[in-house]
Amino acid sequence: MTARIIDGKAHAAALRGRVATAVAAFRAVTGRAPGLAVVLVGEDAASSVYVRSKNRATGEAGMRGFEHRLPADTSEADLLALIDRLNADPAVDGILVQLPLPAQIDADAVITRIDPDKDVDGFHPVNVGRLASGLAGFVPCTPLGCLMLLKGVALSLSGLDAVVVGRSAIVGKPMAQLLLAESCTVTIAHSRTRDLPGRVRQADVVVAAVGVPGLVKGDWIKPGATVIDVGINRIVRADGSSSLVGDVDFASAVQVAGAITPVPGGVGPMTIACLMRNAYVSACRREGAAIDPRVDAPEDGGA
Ligand code: GUN
Repeated sequence: MTARIIDGKAHAAALRGRVATAVAAFRAVTGRAPGLAVVLVGEDAASSVYVRSKNRATGEAGMRGFEHRLPADTSEADLLALIDRLNADPAVDGILVQLPLPAQIDADAVITRIDPDKDVDGFHPVNVGRLASGLAGFVPCTPLGCLMLLKGVALSLSGLDAVVVGRSAIVGKPMAQLLLAESCTVTIAHSRTRDLPGRVRQADVVVAAVGVPGLVKGDWIKPGATVIDVGINRIVRADGSSSLVGDVDFASAVQVAGAITPVPGGVGPMTIACLMRNAYVSACRREGAAIDPRVDAPEDGGA
């Protein structure tokens, strides 16, 4: 038996379509488009591609994109001044500063300067606290996308054993909070965890987010488990060709799992779709407009 392949591209396209529909209604009611500012400091090639994709998706959703590309030697003070301007700009509903930042800039200082109510990345300590407290805020886009994919597989996650491999602030920790809020029994495993394969083998839901290519093997997976692979690792072969692989050894895991995300085409496309979703939600909150519930809970159950 082989696992059902979770089509992240299709789920993401469907979410972006629902956001675009909701944005059109928002524009009709308020007379303005939601605005998303994306800030890139420096020339990092991967970050540059992400920022371009985010801006294209913003336009396609019917929102206004404000792209700020700053030189690699930008000072922290200059970046903070830009954030202050974006915080004060009524046309900007969401602010995203692409990470990583150059060494002369303290990322924590930058993140905490963003107005928490425009923090569509969900990285500000106020939003981290809101998530932990069960309050409305912003949830980081990658774990939010993972949760949406999981809900596409099983409507209720209640009572399931979930293992999150990885404890990053961007994915592992918020993912664990989201699964806990869905009434899973959650384990956060990491590089110091003893008997990692044994831990993963207990799990009905596995989320791998460690950045180690192919770490999670098929014989670590409980038969029928749902496996969400957040890893995006570029493997360069001896002949110079390269490909993207996840943190899960797909070829062996697909033989055992009940459902699994591929890399690419799994979690990746959901991240930008969730950013569009968060920007739309931010605009609604700031205008006091109703958030269309169909954005998150499609009548057709997903893709
Ligand atoms: N760099 C890699 N992923 C992300 C993300 O989700 N948000 C931001 N701001 N930077 C990133």
